[in-house]
Amino acid sequence: MKFLIINGPNLNMLGKRESGHYGSFSLEEIKTYTNQNCPSEVSLDWWQSNSEEKIIEKIHELEQSDYQALIINPAAFSHTSIAIMDALRIIKIPIIEVHLSNVHSREEFRQTLLTAKAASIIMGGLKKDAYLFGVNAALSLLKG
Ligand code: DQA
Repeated sequence: MKFLIINGPNLNMLGKRESGHYGSFSLEEIKTYTNQNCPSEVSLDWWQSNSEEKIIEKIHELEQSDYQALIINPAAFSHTSIAIMDALRIIKIPIIEVHLSNVHSREEFRQTLLTAKAASIIMGGLKKDAYLFGVNAALSLLKG
């Protein structure tokens, strides 16, 4: 099975930002860690952008792809982007929204989770394990 992992703005700066919330791993280190521990039946493609437009276009491409699940951390766009939520509502594969931090224990403005309205599963607080658990959640959903 092939899953796509999309990371939104500022996640390319992991390792340098607020380690109390996000842990000390860089995105590259999380990628290596997740790929190494991922179930052997799954292959992962990773993609990151700081641009809302590019993220929307990447989601649109999923309509024509052979990915079986999308794991997405829309980062700050989770709280603001009706456009990404609408794009996610177009695609038919399971969507797992992950956050490294527990957004519910943080500021008031992080309590609105627009993109999560289009997700099958939402999880947060696992730091470097966020994506690995996201992959396993997608697998569990697909296997029924
Ligand atoms: C985040 C949480 C968001 O509120 C924040 O803007 C991020 C990262 C997380 O993974 O915990 O950039 O999505």
